[in-house]
This record gives sequence, structure tokens and C-alpha cells, in this order.
Amino acid sequence: MASLDPQLPARFADLKLEIASSYGPDFESCITRAWGEIIEELDKATTKIADEGTEIIPQVSLSELDSLTPSQLDNIKKRGCVVIKDVVPDTEAAGWKTELQQFAKDNPTCPGFPPTDKQFFYIYWSKPQVEARSHPGVLKASAWLNGLYHIKGSKQLQGVDLKTPLTYADRYRIRKPGGLWEAHPPHVDGGSIERWEDETFRTCFEAILRGDWRTHDPYDLDGRIKARSSMYGRPNQASIFRTYQGWLAMRQPETGPHQGTIRFFPDVLLSNAYMILRPFFRPKATPASDDPLAAENWEYDLSSPDFPGIYALRDGKGYTGPRPNTETHPHFRLEKTMTAVPNVKPGDMVFWHCDLVHDVEREHEGIHDSAVMYIPAVPTTVQNLEYLTRQRDTFERGVTPPDFPLADPEATYIGVGRPEHIQGDLGRHAMGYSVSAAA
Ligand SMILES: [Fe+2]
Repeated sequence: MASLDPQLPARFADLKLEIASSYGPDFESCITRAWGEIIEELDKATTKIADEGTEIIPQVSLSELDSLTPSQLDNIKKRGCVVIKDVVPDTEAAGWKTELQQFAKDNPTCPGFPPTDKQFFYIYWSKPQVEARSHPGVLKASAWLNGLYHIKGSKQLQGVDLKTPLTYADRYRIRKPGGLWEAHPPHVDGGSIERWEDETFRTCFEAILRGDWRTHDPYDLDGRIKARSSMYGRPNQASIFRTYQGWLAMRQPETGPHQGTIRFFPDVLLSNAYMILRPFFRPKATPASDDPLAAENWEYDLSSPDFPGIYALRDGKGYTGPRPNTETHPHFRLEKTMTAVPNVKPGDMVFWHCDLVHDVEREHEGIHDSAVMYIPAVPTTVQNLEYLTRQRDTFERGVTPPDFPLADPEATYIGVGRPEHIQGDLGRHAMGYSVSAAA
């Protein structure tokens, strides 16, 4: 974290005061009570998560999405993550990996990390990626995940269509065994200090800031779709709204825990409640008891500008995080609770809610590579359509999509995807082509 600074500018202490005053004179008492309840609940929840391990991550197959019981749905929403199996036939997904390996051979100068032994590719428009994003199974999973969100009450959100998914171009990795990946410690994407600073984004967490954290609804769309998740223009920050981030497994026969896979803190409501209130509390200088995690050893404090887990980028390009760790967020007990996803086969997909804490296993102790394409679930919204138009333009020109750091153009690479590689009418629509225009 050499380039990250946990000390934030003094003006962020004013932001805390502003938030406190906007909730009225009872703010301190309400969130102090909530803080105590959240700590108590985390004690129970983290024990359960650590005990159950990988089994706690919900798994369903694509074919059963429309017939899940209410309790299965509740569990998927509570955990904030899900493995959807058999989204794409095994052979098709494994074939994409073979093609991507060939792509790297055919285009030895294509950008990736580490540069001398590329495993994370800064490639967006290869033919397999274009095919995968528009695959009917992928789009069905995406639409279903979008549908887990809702609009409260009788409100109409103009331009929102949860049934019609859109495509977001991202990259892929083919991670080799051995070596250490330090780049992905526990974190949340989709907005950093903006979660508190942007007034619209903050409304997503209003119940928590009222102290009424149990009624927080991570699936309420109101607020999300107009939230400014990127106020400072930092690179690698999605400016669209993704209901779920996700990836598609390609490795034959399967990839699982200890093989460089993704891990989650699988309780999205509780982690949101804890992270949003964390900046308003600090450990007491003189603890009342031996247990540093006990509520009695924490106190309400608005004097510091710091938001633990949020870091200033030293190049002045804004802020990153949340990146909770065992010191900033000890009640998460991250050393025991970051839970690897179970074994996945080629064509299975893993999705996680846009607020969920996740990381990538530092070590890959397996003997095969672990290969995934990043493909999130993206609903139709006015802002997302605006991005889609710009993204389509970069696709046609074979250049880096708008949200990502500029890399060499891909247009001249062997094996680059073209509009004719997009599958089906739904796929063409998801890429920003109207059906009639594509015909
Ligand atoms: Fe991430």
C-alpha cells in the first residue's frame, strides 16, 4: 500500500459533522445504539461464517433460477453472492480459454500483468469475450440477478428496465499456479469515499445512518442508479451501475479453494451496516475491559477526518477503498471469515453484490491455471445506456473502453472480436445495437 495514504484531508471531518447534523440531534444516540447491536450481531455472524466455510456460499443452476423457493432467494440476497452453475456448456467455455491462450501467442505484445509472464490481460475485445458477454445463458443470469433489485413502493424510475441486461466490457485472467497476488486484498468496488460524500449515494445507506440498520435494503435501486460512484475520475473505477460483479469460469475440469480463487465476506447487510458506521467510532484510548472488540471499548467520535479503510491516492487522483483489514475493521474477523467460493467448472459463473467485500486468494497452490472472464450484471438505466453508447464506439474502433486506463489499440490484433461475433438479438441489444440496425 505504498501509494496509499490513510490520512484524509481535514475537510472530511466537516463531512462527518454535516452527515451528523443532517440526521438531527439524536444522531449520536441512534447510531451508538446501532453500533452496539451491529457488533453483537457480527460476533454471531462471523462465528457462523467461519464454521460453515465454503458451504455458506449459495449455489444454484441456471435452469432452476425461475423456480427457487423464497428461502433460497432470501439466502442468496443475504449472502450477497451466488454461484450459478451451467450458464454456458463446459466445452464452449473451455474452448474460449483455449482461444484466449492462442490470442496471447498470436499477439505477444498485448498488454498484461506481470509484463514478462502475463496472467491478467488488459484485453477487452477478443472474439471469445465478445461471444461470452452475449451468450444467451450469460444474459439470462444477468437479467435474473438484476431482478433481485427492486424499486420501493409505487415509485417509477424513468428509463430503468431490470429485464433487459446490458454488456460491460472488462478483462480476463489466466492465473498460473505459484506466485503471490498482492493486488486484491479485501475490498469493495463501485465507489469509495463517495459512499458518504455523494448525497445521492449516501441515501442508499440512509436506514443505517438513522440507526435503523436492520431495515437497510441493499437491493433498493432508488439512489443507486444516480449515485456518483466516481467523483474524482480515478482509473479502473466503473462509472456504470452493476447490480452484481461477476466472472465466468473457463478452467477444465474445475477450480476451487486454494487455487487462486475469489473469496467473500458473505453477509452484505451486516457488512454495509458496519462499514458505513465505522468512521463515526474509534477504539477508546483507555479500554474498559480486556476485549478490544467489545462495544464498551469503542466511542463515538467525529473529530478525525479519516474514514478507516478509505485511502487517498498519493498521485492526487482521489480515493480508493473501502479496503477493510484486520486493524481498521477488526469485528469482521477477516482472517477467519473471508470465504472461498466452492469448486466451479467451465461455464459456471460467480456473482457478488456491488457492495460485497471480496478478495482474491494470495496463493495459488493448485497445479493448473485458474482462468476467468470478468462479466458483471448490468441493468438498463439512463446512465448505463449513456455509457453503453460510448463503449460501443470503443468496440467499433477496437480501443480501450471508456472506464479503463488507455492501453494499445486492439483493432489490429489477430483474433479480435467484431460486431458479427455478437450472439443473438438480445446480445446485440446488450451491446448497444438495436435489433433492426444489426439486421
Ligand atoms: Fe474487486
